[in-house]
Amino acid sequence: MKIDAQPIGKIKAPKSPYVYPGYASLIIFSKAGGTMNKTIVSLFMAVTVLLGGCTKNTAEPILTPSASSPDTDASIDSPVPGTATQMKSDAAGVQTVKDPDSTTVLVNKHFALPADYKPKDMVFPDVPFLFKEKIEKREMRQEAAHALEALFAAAKQDGIRLAGVSAYRSFTTQKVLFAHYAEQSGKANAITYSAAPGTSEHETGLAIDLSGSDGKCAAQDCFADTKEAAWLAANAPAYGYIIRYPKGKESITGYQYEPWHIRYVGTKVSKEIASKGLTLEEYLKQE
Ligand code: DAL
Ligand code: ZN
Repeated sequence: MKIDAQPIGKIKAPKSPYVYPGYASLIIFSKAGGTMNKTIVSLFMAVTVLLGGCTKNTAEPILTPSASSPDTDASIDSPVPGTATQMKSDAAGVQTVKDPDSTTVLVNKHFALPADYKPKDMVFPDVPFLFKEKIEKREMRQEAAHALEALFAAAKQDGIRLAGVSAYRSFTTQKVLFAHYAEQSGKANAITYSAAPGTSEHETGLAIDLSGSDGKCAAQDCFADTKEAAWLAANAPAYGYIIRYPKGKESITGYQYEPWHIRYVGTKVSKEIASKGLTLEEYLKQE
């Protein structure tokens, strides 16, 4: 089913995705464990929910390019073939990006990062998050982190208090998340809000999910109606960020509207994308 067939306002947040107060432990466990037994993961998540409570969330998943969901390609009309930073790769039609370090790298259902990709210049942006721990999902690439700090400062000047929800995710983390969502709500549903491993922008270190400082509506549809979402849509491009999955562009991006997911592309590109009402796919295609 094409994802843009669903009225945006009625798209249901995934039934299974949750942000766990104890999620930090999951990530640490994940990193330490390498390949985790699926049963252990499920049990761990269940226990974490029971002990710590949970918040519905539309965080991100993982899949290897060649293992993409069969309905994945059908859900995007404009895969942007042959852009300067991409190259053809596997037989399944998913291409591996040639320059994953580019700030304008296109990562979507058609273009995957190399499976072993790890951004090199990762730092902890000096902005508040909904959690205190210095963990993976707080990391971003340095250029994006500095731009994020400027964005947060500008928002504060305007009386808008933002908070980070989830920034960097490794391939392994995305794999665990996607598997969890697929198990909970089915792969066909999960792929409309969560990226398969290797195809999430969070793996670039250039993307972050934001909320208001109270954490209400964090990564949920109701964030769209907040003053923080309105501020981001109007001001993020001045700091090099774009709303990566805009309303009405689902058939191009491949994902439901995510007003909380911003992606760093640099100010030249972000301003042009915003002024022309484009997606990153459309911008790169016109280059
Ligand atoms: N939620 C976005 C699409 C991701 O999983 O990266
Ligand atoms: Zn996101």
